[in-house]
Amino acid sequence: MDRSLEAQSKNDISNHLEEIEVKLLLQGLYDWCGYDFRNYAYQSIRRRIWHRVYAERLSTITGLLDKVLHDPSCLQRLIADFSINVTEMFRDPLFFLEFREKVVPLLRTYPSIRIWHAGCSTGEEVYSMAMLLHEEDLYEKTKIYATDINTTALKDAKSGIFPLENMKKYTSNYLRAGGKRAFSDYYCVTNKGVQFYPFLTKNVIFAQHNLVTDRSFNEFHVILCRNVLIYFNKTLQNKVHSLFYESLGMFGILGLGDKESIYYTNHFDSYNVISGKQKLYRKVK
Ligand SMILES: C[S@@+](CC[C@H](N)C(=O)[O-])C[C@H]1O[C@@H](n2cnc3c(N)ncnc32)[C@H](O)[C@@H]1O
Repeated sequence: MDRSLEAQSKNDISNHLEEIEVKLLLQGLYDWCGYDFRNYAYQSIRRRIWHRVYAERLSTITGLLDKVLHDPSCLQRLIADFSINVTEMFRDPLFFLEFREKVVPLLRTYPSIRIWHAGCSTGEEVYSMAMLLHEEDLYEKTKIYATDINTTALKDAKSGIFPLENMKKYTSNYLRAGGKRAFSDYYCVTNKGVQFYPFLTKNVIFAQHNLVTDRSFNEFHVILCRNVLIYFNKTLQNKVHSLFYESLGMFGILGLGDKESIYYTNHFDSYNVISGKQKLYRKVK
């Protein structure tokens, strides 16, 4: 056989074997503890798995499956690897500016407001929204539900403590997002880091919720699910979009992340576009 063909065929076999091992690991995880990562985007989950294989000083994915099933701490480490928590305050500042300019006037017309941050990670997005609503005199009539699959991230979110070194970037984001005060009005510096004032979370409920396996739990005026669906495959994205569609009241607002869109999902024609660039949509049927 031609050498390059031989190499190609070896490559195909090893990719196929890898796919089988990934499938077995994810199925094993699901059967063992109910966490369902089977429909997460393949390439991203594959990278995370190999990262854990090497970190555990193993050489195969099957070896990792063995360890995950028999060592609860390794199971926790793998689940933590799958939950990518990167976030920041006023992430994509123009999203928050657009929210302030186009969504806030709609929210003013409601007697009370329910907002769901789905996949809130360590809470930076939630504190950002609380500041924005406070400045627009809407916070008092708002209830925010902030959920994530990751309980460690939720614990950090509840604490309201964030690293001091992030404040420069967050201050700049806040100003670009149309912030009306001094960003430093919202926190004080302690020896543990920066402590945001508790009034920002007095109307927030932090709770664990798994978008893959849990159901709708209320009807919302706004759902933000930003930078979460990029980690899911098409089938799972559609499933979660159905959950959002069910959970939004008529004329409710859906906000997605920079690289996400309502286009090509099964609920595409149920929404009007408020801002195509900032991924803000309004349910109209
Ligand atoms: C990259 S962070 C996004 C945080 C924030 N929304 C933002 O845009 O900055 C993705 C979050 O989605 C959460 N996540 C992943 N799978 C999830 C699931 N099945 N259900 C709920 N949250 C999930 C992760 O734990 C992580 O905190």
